[in-house]
Amino acid sequence: MTDQQMSDVGLVGLAVMGQNLVLNMADHGYHVSAYNRTTSKMTAFVDRVESEEPSKERVHGFDTLEEFVASIKRPRKIILLVQAGRGTDATIDGLLPHLEEGDIVIDGGNAHWLDTIRREKEMREKGLHFMGSGVSGGELGARFGPSLMPGGSEQAWESLKPIWESIAAKVDPDTGKPLEDYAAGRPVTEGIPCTTYIGTDGAGHYVKMVHNGIEYIDMQLICESYFLMKELLGMRPDEIAAVFEKWNAGVLDSYLIEITADILAQKDPRDGSKFLVDQVLDTAGQKGTGKWTSISALDLGVTANAMAEAVFARYLSALKEERQAASGILRGPAVTFTGDREAFLESIRQALYSSKICAYAQGFALMEEAQKEYDWKLDFGMIAQVWRGGCIIRARFLQKITEAFNQDPTLANLLLDPYFTDALHEGQSAWRSVVATAAQNGISVPAFMSALSYFDGYRSAVLPANLLQAQRDYFGAHTYERVDEERGRFFHTDWPVAGRPESDV
Ligand code: 6PG
Repeated sequence: MTDQQMSDVGLVGLAVMGQNLVLNMADHGYHVSAYNRTTSKMTAFVDRVESEEPSKERVHGFDTLEEFVASIKRPRKIILLVQAGRGTDATIDGLLPHLEEGDIVIDGGNAHWLDTIRREKEMREKGLHFMGSGVSGGELGARFGPSLMPGGSEQAWESLKPIWESIAAKVDPDTGKPLEDYAAGRPVTEGIPCTTYIGTDGAGHYVKMVHNGIEYIDMQLICESYFLMKELLGMRPDEIAAVFEKWNAGVLDSYLIEITADILAQKDPRDGSKFLVDQVLDTAGQKGTGKWTSISALDLGVTANAMAEAVFARYLSALKEERQAASGILRGPAVTFTGDREAFLESIRQALYSSKICAYAQGFALMEEAQKEYDWKLDFGMIAQVWRGGCIIRARFLQKITEAFNQDPTLANLLLDPYFTDALHEGQSAWRSVVATAAQNGISVPAFMSALSYFDGYRSAVLPANLLQAQRDYFGAHTYERVDEERGRFFHTDWPVAGRPESDV
């Protein structure tokens, strides 16, 4: 093969995401080698591509890893979109005998960042590069413009950058609005690409994981809004769809709100007199990234209670039979609503927006702590910009997050940015009334409630942990600091005091 006939890039793993990423790269002029462990899948894909212009010239299928690797220009760039975990390790093992110094393997799956750190080190010791890149946006994103979060060596990034920047979603440089030309059948080439170098080794996968943690809470908050409209206000799915559609024209403008409106308006294809959402069983699955985010928050000592609550809400939903049984035993209040419905809908909107701000504050606080632990230098303004288009959590308000971190890169917490402080001041009274009304009516809104607790806890100069620390000292001599001494001096009392002196430890 001459250099001109060789591919610019290779991709292993031709499930839908992999296929779509191949087509996206081909659309942007790249020659792509494609490989799949089950050859028939590769052949079927290449046959299908034969009828696609302009991709057909640029997609080349191979049925052995050896030929696949040999078909790619050096230093080779090989993207993996295989099952995270053992699937990734097995694919790397298969590739290794054929790779040469300087080649770059890019894992585009939802890998655990510690696996990525391990793999990057192992590959580096062999003279190879390994990048872990978050790829968000689902099947359509992969096809027409995903949000891409690459981590690894800067040298490897320089090689990957032109491809990643060309295939990523693009946003308008002035407004930050996603640019979507695909409806007209054209690849999007103008605008700011939704990708940037995130950091070394596992940084890209960590940031993608936090994206997913936020995705969980974002979805849960929307679901709680829906639930209040359904249970408390007795609204039909199409009426609720109209509310979300209206909200999507304002500060809540986002992909998840948009698809929620679509879902709620959808009739059941089996029975057109029903709404499909009412026929979907109320149990939610998960593949683990939200759980990883919460575990990481616990490990790093970051309060990300709303994000964890979204994971727990999915767990609770999965107990369908147990909940059904309990509903016949455990009684709550009768659901009644007598207030102004329009005003209450506006309150739900405010509660959703305020809770969402808290959820993002938790996500960014988590990344702030993680970068210290793993020695990364994350640019939060850029991360928010990368999430502005292409990904599942893309939303208008991410522009405000970019602005907040651009104005103050050392911002301790998003809640302290003047724009968000004002938004919370404006929304909090409605938010409180929504949480109180839900509690009084026995309607479960864990994400609204825990986000509000976070807000109230974070803004409290005084918390009841004085009593808690005294309890710890009482039963375990764990010591305490005093309000009237400098920080870092610890004391112990032999409780109950009964005249015994305090000791300075
Ligand atoms: C994305 C999504 C994607 C996937 C989630 C779903 O950014 O494109 O996050 O990665 O849809 O992993 O996660 P659950 O199956 O855990 O809901």
